[in-house]
This record gives sequence, C-alpha cells and structure tokens, in this order.
Amino acid sequence: MGEASGRSAATSFYLFLLGRKLFASGKLAGKEAVAAKTFAIRLRLGRAPKRRRAMHGDHRLRRPGHDNKQDQEPPMDIVNVDYSTKIPNNVGLTEDRRILRALESWHPGYLDWWMDMGPEGFQESLVYLRTAVSVDPKGWAKFDYVRMPEYRWGILLAPQEEQRKVNFGQHLGDPAWQEVPGEYRAMLRRLIVIQGDTEPASVEQQRHLGATAPSLYDMRNLFQVNVEEGRHLWAMVYLLHKYFGRDGRDEAEELLRRRSGSEDAPRMLGAFNEATPDWLSFFMFTFFTDRDGKMQLESLAQSGFDPLSRTCRFMLTEEAHHMFVGETGVGRTVQRTCEAMKQAGISDPYDIEKVRSLGVIDLPTIQKKLNLHYTLSLDLFGSEVSTNAANAYNAGLKGRFMETKIADDHRLESATYPVLKFVDGVIKRVDEPALTALNMRLRDDYTDDCARGVDRWNKIIDKVGIQFRLELPHVAFHRQIGEFRDIHATPKGIVIDEATWRREKDNWLPSKADGDFIVELMKPEVESGKYANWIAPPKIGIDNKPGDFEYVKIAA
Ligand SMILES: [Fe+2]
Ligand SMILES: [Fe+2]
Repeated sequence: MGEASGRSAATSFYLFLLGRKLFASGKLAGKEAVAAKTFAIRLRLGRAPKRRRAMHGDHRLRRPGHDNKQDQEPPMDIVNVDYSTKIPNNVGLTEDRRILRALESWHPGYLDWWMDMGPEGFQESLVYLRTAVSVDPKGWAKFDYVRMPEYRWGILLAPQEEQRKVNFGQHLGDPAWQEVPGEYRAMLRRLIVIQGDTEPASVEQQRHLGATAPSLYDMRNLFQVNVEEGRHLWAMVYLLHKYFGRDGRDEAEELLRRRSGSEDAPRMLGAFNEATPDWLSFFMFTFFTDRDGKMQLESLAQSGFDPLSRTCRFMLTEEAHHMFVGETGVGRTVQRTCEAMKQAGISDPYDIEKVRSLGVIDLPTIQKKLNLHYTLSLDLFGSEVSTNAANAYNAGLKGRFMETKIADDHRLESATYPVLKFVDGVIKRVDEPALTALNMRLRDDYTDDCARGVDRWNKIIDKVGIQFRLELPHVAFHRQIGEFRDIHATPKGIVIDEATWRREKDNWLPSKADGDFIVELMKPEVESGKYANWIAPPKIGIDNKPGDFEYVKIAA
C-alpha cells in the first residue's frame, strides 16, 4: 500500500468510528462537530500509484462525455468529500438540509433492505473492501476491513465540467441543465428509476453466494460488488430525492420494495429476476450483465441533465471492477479446466464425463452458461427499433456510446442504421432511421465489447493447447424481447421450428443436469490462499496483497 493510501486508511478509520458514533447519537454534539469538520477528507490529485488501479480493471475505464479538448485532465485541484454527515458526499449535503433529512429518513429502510436482502450471513465479518473517498480518477478509493452494514455508502458525483453543453438532440449546443427541464421530467425520472432498479436487484440475486465462495479472495470480490451496487442505488435515490420532489421520494421507496424474482413486485427488467445459482453464473453475470450496465451508464453519462451525467461518470469507475471480476472469474475457471484436462491427458473437450470427473467444469458447459447470460443481457437493450430511445435522444437525456467522439451531426435527422430483422421468414439487415435504431446501435457496441473479452478467454484455452473456441451466439438465439422474440434460432442464427428447439435446447443452454453438476462443485474454500478445485487462483491480489492474505475475517 502506498504512502498516500496508508494515511487515508488511518484517517478514514477514525472517521469510520466517528461515523458510527454519529449513527448512534443521531446528531452532532459540539465537540464532534469540530472533529468532523477537522477530518473532512482533503485528497490531492495523483497520489495513488498507477499499478494499483490497473489491477482492479480500472485501466479499462473510459472517460465518457469528453471532446478532444476535454480529453486532457479536467481542471480539478482538490476534491472534498464530507464525512461529517451520516452520508459521505461531495454534493454539499450539510448545506442542503431538506435533502439530507430526506436521505436520512430513507437510510433505515435501506439498512433493513440490506439486512433482509443483502448477502446472507457474513454481515458481522470483516471484509477487506474499498470505499470511495474521492472522485479523483487517480486515487478515489481506500482499502480497509469493514463490516458490510457499516460500509459508508456515499453520494459522489464526478467533478462538474465547466461550460458543459448538451451534446446531442434538439437542444444540441445549449448549456447542460442543472435542473430538470419541466417538459422531460417524467422521461428523466423513468430513466433514473430503471437504472436504479437494477442496482439492488443484482445484490438480491447474488445473496446466497457467500456460503459457497471458492476462496476468500472471491468472497471479498462478491461483497465488494454488492456494496457498490448498494452505493449505486444511493446515487439514483439521491437524484430522485433532490430533483423529483414527492414523486421522487415515492419512487425511492418503491426501489426498496420490489424484489428480484418476486411474483407480486418483481424487479423491472427480466435479467434481474433470474436466479444466480452458482459462482460461474455470478462471473457470467458480472461479465455480461454488468457490462450492459456499463453501456447504459455510458449513454446516461452523455446526458444533458448534468447531475445525472456526473453521477454516472463516477459510477463507471466502480463498474470497471465488476467486469474485471467477471472476466477474470470466467478466465480462471476456463484456465483450471484446461490445465486439469492437460494434466489428465484429455484432449477432447467434448468428453464431458471424463472432464467432469476431474472436478472441473467442462468447456461446452461454460459455453452454455455464456449463451444464457449473453442473451439475457441482450434483452436488456429493449426493442431494436424504439421510439422511447429516439425521444430520449432527441430530448438530450440519453446519448450514444462515446457520443462526443462520433463524427456526425448528433441530431440523426436523416441518418440510417442497419438493423437485424426477421422479414418474410429470414433474418436480414434493414436500414432504419438511426434515431429509432439507437437501442440496436448500443447493443452492437455492447457485442463488440463482449467479443473482446471472449477473445481473451480463447487465448487462455489456446495457451494451454486445448482445441476449443468459446463464441457469442447469434443475436436471434434465445430472445424474449425484440425482433426475434417469437422465433427460435440456433446459436449460429439458423431459424428452426418449435419441435427442433425443444429437442436441441439442452445442447445450447444449461440443462437441469448441468446446473446440478455445477452446484455440486460449489464447495466453499475459506482457508486463506486456498482455492476450490474448479478455479485457478488469480494472478495478482487485491490492493497488491500477497497470495495468503485474509480478505474476509469470517469470524471477526
Ligand atoms: Fe451498478
Ligand atoms: Fe455493477
């Protein structure tokens, strides 16, 4: 740990104790108020070593919403995060008593939700977590042991860019909005609620996984993702409280009421109501579904509504780690399988019985899991052709991936975009107005991003010398939403009838038997530095920690 992060950890531990005291007392006494003020954290740019950032996948972070000039580091001297309130923030909550009170009254319900629907067990354990303490892209987090219910869920917005403009749609060139434009209030609220709903949903989906973690390292990563999804919920709830009055407060309550997979009050989007029954599902989810999250956040980070843009820009820094967990998790699973095969002298990846007898997950089953999670995530982009997407773009609320880097008119009045459609019994590309094809475009950008990760998994397979390739299935395969929802297609995109689908389905998607086999493998490994047999150890530890580091002190 570098000097800067060491100092901030010590300071933060004091603040953490102070925060606990504040939680208990409910208000600041005179002496504490002075202490709190003294310890408001002041962090400078550029203190954290680059090496640590890269380890957590942050090197893949893109900074959206920048044109060429803005690509240079924004002018930002010191970033203050106020820890004197119950809710750490850089949005001046101390001066904004109305919002502070509203959020403080939402807080107990949030904690109840966390205890009911957050990770099952381990709530008393000490987990080596990173907490966001700044919005400085070079050193925004500190690492320390924390009990999850005491995690400091803060509200942090990326720094305001001076003279930021609306960069697309019919308000192109206008100053970005600092308040909600009245005519777009409902549309904007809906975008925020849909994004907000996904955040607690994934925590709910993953709540049983702690008990079967393949290592303390993986358990810690799961909990890290969970607390950060919790913080993302806070981020959306802040926007609802701050900018949407009573409706916003009602929506914030609803976000705590809905439950993943519930009959009566399910989460809003399909993939967020699916079970995450095992760790391979978790890794696939963080690779594919968190990556959908990234694409949505990237588009919202383009928003002309500046507080939403700033919120999403900061969330993306955390999101990078979630995808890192997914990509390396699947990669380590693939690696372990290939190595075990090699060692046992098995060269045929389709000799499933034999491979499974080694206590590892065979590659064809990993492909089936990939097929499932990729297609569930494709559905999250909505219909390929969508007037809602066009309206949000026209209004300047939700842009395209890397909007400001695209060389066109940023209005899309006459442009077209090729959309895959099902026409007269065949799948073909049809040019549609670019404005209504925005979901398709974002989905294509997503597919490209996924494909790069799949290539990296294939390199692992190649390196060990096994003949097998993982691949993304065709977008017509296994879809519930959009152009292909009423047809069946193979993973190669060949249209088939219902009977064929039923007969072949278990060859393409995880069957009950596949699921049972994987669940059977999920034996916990809680000794420091040890890993379950089905997964390879990571190349490098979190926060540069050694291989036997105790990432979770379970019985603390
Ligand atoms: Fe998130
Ligand atoms: Fe995430």
